[in-house]
Amino acid sequence: MADFQNCDSCSSSPLELFERVTAQGEKVRSLKAVKASTDEIDAAVKLLLSLKVTYKTATGQDYKAGSPPVNFSPVSNNGPTTTQDEDFVDPWTVQTSNAKGVDYDKLIVRFGSSKIDKELINRIERVTGQTPHHFLRRGIFFSHRDMNQILDAYENKKRFYLYTGRGPSSEAMHVGHLIPFIFTKWLQEVFNVPLVIQLTDDEKYLWKDLTIQKASDYAIENAKDIIACGFDINKTFIFSDLDYLGMSPGFYKNVVKVQKHVTFNQVKGIFGFTDSDCIGKISFPAIQAAPSFSSSFPQIFKDKEDIQCLIPCAIDQDPYFRMTRDVAPRIGYLKPALLHSIFFPALQGAQTKMSASDPNSSIFLTDTPKQIKTKINKHAFSGGKDTIEEHRKQGGNCEVDVSYMYLTFFLEDDDKLEKMKQAYTSGALLTGELKKVLIETLQPLIAAHQQRRKQVTDEMVKQFMTPRKLAFEF
Ligand code: TRP
Repeated sequence: MADFQNCDSCSSSPLELFERVTAQGEKVRSLKAVKASTDEIDAAVKLLLSLKVTYKTATGQDYKAGSPPVNFSPVSNNGPTTTQDEDFVDPWTVQTSNAKGVDYDKLIVRFGSSKIDKELINRIERVTGQTPHHFLRRGIFFSHRDMNQILDAYENKKRFYLYTGRGPSSEAMHVGHLIPFIFTKWLQEVFNVPLVIQLTDDEKYLWKDLTIQKASDYAIENAKDIIACGFDINKTFIFSDLDYLGMSPGFYKNVVKVQKHVTFNQVKGIFGFTDSDCIGKISFPAIQAAPSFSSSFPQIFKDKEDIQCLIPCAIDQDPYFRMTRDVAPRIGYLKPALLHSIFFPALQGAQTKMSASDPNSSIFLTDTPKQIKTKINKHAFSGGKDTIEEHRKQGGNCEVDVSYMYLTFFLEDDDKLEKMKQAYTSGALLTGELKKVLIETLQPLIAAHQQRRKQVTDEMVKQFMTPRKLAFEF
């Protein structure tokens, strides 16, 4: 919210924010009135609460319905992030009014991270001797914290490890969920390092309307999709919180250390928790923080407490790791480094990320070739013109076209992608033709994933999820 201190419309921002809180309150009431789904109501309430915190941070006053802000004075600059131009990003909600999606350059400034620029990409290429992944070349992983430190360490033959995760909120994973895993697999291969993957079934139990049993079942189902991405069983440990926490004193000690060094006020500021959130939620961030420290995994790292951690994740997870980086030096540990990705847009447009609860907002890993085709043809937001004549004359707009955006994620051939961009922009390529390319790119990709998933046995899942030494000496 630094924006409130240096924007040129400061005097109107708190009022605008006041109006947003009011409007969001009305939205929650109307969703409840029409008995909307719990997921939808939950998301709206989350946004409302976060907006209230943002309001308080910006004005120094509690939001009171019907009383617009007076004599406001901003109090801090590290709460949930929204600006007067409407982008909102926290672990639960991503919203923007811009069809091109969230303004990621602004997010870098607000979150205080660093841009992954050409220089860093070149350095990764030099250090690893590998062509940088197209997610790096195309700005899909666009922001980082301390990546240069990781490269320094690597050049000095010091090992690091990778940590990523997934909240298993349902059985159904969609293509967007694969992005961090595809990239993590590439990192694991080029750097040859251990990887830990946290499945936060506890988090989903706390946040969603789920039983403990369901949450752990989803963790196992999701683990199969993750394994199907091709991780090396000798270099990868996957764990479910509900399972691993109870058997790892090393892990639990780190959770408690983090808990001792973060106050309720701090998590309120970072995550927008309120007095009526259950205490499980309030203490959960410590559980997502703990895997950033090597002593949480003595079976892999023995007694080494100083193996640095690199976390590839979507940018909405950054609040957890801002908190982690803040406590790390205070409990005698290294700060984890981070690589942040942009969001995978919903079929309907880049205003929001995809949601597992809306089947038409995404392509699922279980979709048939026919479903993929129908969804893309029917729902993928087009940046093309209404009529062929207009389109031929004026061309389409790749910046808002969801099919084009998806191709930047999944079409690896740079030349082909560039040719399509030019043809679409000039009007030579029609929306239907662009969609056809996307359909033909995704169908085999998903089919291959389904094939690999079928080959994942219960025995393999169990092996991946057993605490054990990996193929590295520490
Ligand atoms: N909270 C994340 C989610 O809901 C899951 C997660 C846990 C994670 N640890 C992580 C994601 C580390 C990225 C990196 O999906």
